[in-house]
Amino acid sequence: MSQTTSVVMQQTVYLNGEFLPMSEARISTQDRGYLFGDGVYEVIPVYQKKLFAWQEHLQRLKNSLQAVSITNPLTDSEWFKLLSDLIDRHDWQDQFIYLQVTRGIQMVRDHMPADCLTPSIYAYTNPLKPLAKDVVENGIKLVSLEDIRWLRCDIKAITLLPNVMMKLAAKQQNTDDAVLITRDGFVSEGTASNLFIVKDGALFTPPNSHKILPGVTRIVIEKVATNHHIPMIEQELTLTDLQNADEIWLTSSTKEALPVTQLDGKPVGTGQPGAVWQLMRQHYQTYKQAFIADYNQP
Ligand SMILES: Cc1ncc(COP(=O)(O)O)c(C=O)c1O
Repeated sequence: MSQTTSVVMQQTVYLNGEFLPMSEARISTQDRGYLFGDGVYEVIPVYQKKLFAWQEHLQRLKNSLQAVSITNPLTDSEWFKLLSDLIDRHDWQDQFIYLQVTRGIQMVRDHMPADCLTPSIYAYTNPLKPLAKDVVENGIKLVSLEDIRWLRCDIKAITLLPNVMMKLAAKQQNTDDAVLITRDGFVSEGTASNLFIVKDGALFTPPNSHKILPGVTRIVIEKVATNHHIPMIEQELTLTDLQNADEIWLTSSTKEALPVTQLDGKPVGTGQPGAVWQLMRQHYQTYKQAFIADYNQP
């Protein structure tokens, strides 16, 4: 049995009111999540068994549910309890939770959602691993691709087919990921991450809009940058800005900040993970340690 399979088999998941082994979890073929991709999700990092940036993740979940008119099925404290129970059922100190809410089961397939559906809730957790040594030492390679997604990328929707297609296209071009360029010629983000550049010691990132997901890691980076007097400027960026950048980073809850060392086959800055990224990585770890030490359950 492969290591991945044995990890999966130990996992307990939450599905619609019960905790059960992942191998026993079943959903209806008529769930609108399955038929239409009609649902939203969150990915939440857990450090030392504590939910990180919980209020920000919860708020984004509520925003996503509201944007697609799915009734929020639980109260804030019920969400917290559900995820805390899930965390406690696993030994891993650092984890990441996948949580998804779909509109629910509708026996007759119809684009129009029926009234009074009961949302389906599914959550599972995985061990959260630190960045691979190779990535820390050498960074990752990006290709620029047209952003083929819809115009509500601010909603964390489970409908991720364009992201999957762009990730595959990046792999076909022997790169690790893609930086996406919207139809109006501006940089949006990565296929599953936000994007930052460093130029002359300052951080630049595209402003929140319907074109990007409002990343929670992006908020944390902003806090850490402010605490350490690193200027952070929200501004539209072009591919030329990326080509002239000293550093490029991709940020997400499971990766924190990833250094990008190659873009479209050319080195970014020196071609090595940059000095500001190294500094941010240290400050980010310190921020996490302080979060663990000062943790107060909401
Ligand atoms: C498209 C996209 N943008 C940005 C992010 C980063 O969001 P966060 O920092 O909240 O993980 C993600 C995370 O999965 C994403 O899928």
